[in-house]
Amino acid sequence: MAASHRLTVTDIQRMRDEGEHITMLTAYDYSTARLADEAEIPILLVGDSLGMVVLGYDSTLPVTVDDMIRHGAAVVRGTKRAHVVVDMPFGSYQAGWQEAMHNAVRIMQETGAGSVKLEGGRRSADIVRRLVTAGIPVMGHVGLTPQSVNALGGWRMQGKTPRDSVHVMHDARALEEAGAYAVVLETVPAALGSKITRQLRVPTIGIGAGPYTSGQVQVVNDMLGLFQDFKPKHARRFLDGATLIRDAFVAYRKAVESGSFPAAAESHLLDERVQRYIERMEYSREINPDHEGIDFEDAMEDIELEGRPAT
Ligand code: KIV
Repeated sequence: MAASHRLTVTDIQRMRDEGEHITMLTAYDYSTARLADEAEIPILLVGDSLGMVVLGYDSTLPVTVDDMIRHGAAVVRGTKRAHVVVDMPFGSYQAGWQEAMHNAVRIMQETGAGSVKLEGGRRSADIVRRLVTAGIPVMGHVGLTPQSVNALGGWRMQGKTPRDSVHVMHDARALEEAGAYAVVLETVPAALGSKITRQLRVPTIGIGAGPYTSGQVQVVNDMLGLFQDFKPKHARRFLDGATLIRDAFVAYRKAVESGSFPAAAESHLLDERVQRYIERMEYSREINPDHEGIDFEDAMEDIELEGRPAT
């Protein structure tokens, strides 16, 4: 979708209504966000997955509101066109709607993002309704919700049995009814992803939810092949980033060790006379910040004379 303005939730709904497949990608920093924006990725999610792929925690639970704000603001600064969604981290909305409102307002004000995302279906519906009523667009997230990994008993596919699939369906519908502008479906059977997408009027964004959702989201470190700890089944590596980057690091180390880096073009060179002056400089232990007793003009003239061929 060509757009001259920053995309809004209305644009995202229009994309879904016009049958356009919606691409969403996570981003956590300025440089990556800038590249993704140049690649015309319409939605950038500052996911709390940053806890695992950037900060090295073994789950998303330790991520704080301040973490999300720091990274969210960097992603907004790196983009002109993308709609930026910032995850509300674990503990920032579970204690009640007042705290959720306080944290969502902070995230919106301090990052400049276009919306927030939070996890949970029916259990989060009241909070979603209140945030939306206050003018904060909310993306929902059901199925495998990583902030509940301890309650779910691990990173397991959700909605596998008829009973569980009905639960996931009700969760997604509750979010739509509460006013969520889109719903992430994570790690559910493709048939369920398809069914929920046909049932909802708002876009569904799948990750491990099959090909029939309105859009797809990938964790940027997975799709660039940077995250080495494990490869989720739903991730596709569009680049072997780890090999490319490791090879570049080795080449850099070898260039330093061999003395071939930095070359003249990578060094700051001075006028030849000033260079000669620096070479002749004698280190004085006296602190002489005002250069007392040093006549630079004279010194430079001496150097110039020295450099002249004898007549
Ligand atoms: O935090 C995240 O990256 C997410 C996506 C996996 C949807 O929530």
